[in-house]
Amino acid sequence: MYDYYLGGSHNFAVDRQRAAEVLVVLPQARVFARQNRAFLRRAVRYFVAQGIQQFLDLGAGLPTVGAAHEVAVECRVVYVDDEPTAVAHGQLLLAGNPLAACVQADITRPDEVLDHPDTQRILDFDQPLGVLLCAVLHFVPDERGPAGVVRAYREALAPGSMLALSHATATDYPDLLAEVVDTYRVTQNQAYPRTRAEVTGLVASFEQLVWPGVVYTPEWRPEHVADIGDPTESLAYAVVATCP
Ligand SMILES: C[S@@+](CC[C@H](N)C(=O)[O-])C[C@H]1O[C@@H](n2cnc3c(N)ncnc32)[C@H](O)[C@@H]1O
Repeated sequence: MYDYYLGGSHNFAVDRQRAAEVLVVLPQARVFARQNRAFLRRAVRYFVAQGIQQFLDLGAGLPTVGAAHEVAVECRVVYVDDEPTAVAHGQLLLAGNPLAACVQADITRPDEVLDHPDTQRILDFDQPLGVLLCAVLHFVPDERGPAGVVRAYREALAPGSMLALSHATATDYPDLLAEVVDTYRVTQNQAYPRTRAEVTGLVASFEQLVWPGVVYTPEWRPEHVADIGDPTESLAYAVVATCP
């Protein structure tokens, strides 16, 4: 569905049908996907500018156009997703690339992700790492402890590592969002949008927030002011946090 919002071609009829239903109710879903992806690209570039040369992309989806290994060429990247088709597709795309791998795992089980042979082969946990948690934690309910999941990854990181997180917001367009949450209920990914305060709480285990803190995705260090538009239409917050 996300790929369809992005205008991609890696989607199936059932995805297109459900995504089209969402777009009727909430046309901003396209803005959400594009602005989220643009935030991810800016965050990866920012990490590289800070000297980070390896990435763990949690809930990566398909590593297609604009994925971390394309933005940060020559960096090492492990993509993680629990959706078998996305992972199989990703493994094909990355075949023969010694610097990147696509791992099938549930990100709410950090030990399985961190101990996976491909993670261990590609990433060096003694060096700073960029962790991406973009548009995925809103699929993790409070009962599964999303802040504890973030903390578990934080504890595995060397000083100088960074986290980029984006997350659907519950604050704007509440009636429309309620309908969309209903649509997602019948998919494999039930959605749990959260408030700005709740999103801030998710990254509490990281010591510092990079300026400008928790903002709408297009407001996080935009390349051009004109790219921001109506920030509420992005339907998502973004934050970058560090562990010095
Ligand atoms: C909206 S896509 C985001 C893709 C990418 N991170 C981005 O921001 O462009 C969310 C992805 O998270 C994956 N996902 C959801 N829950 C997950 C979990 N518990 N473990 C691993 N992947 C998960 C879905 O399969 C989907 O590919």
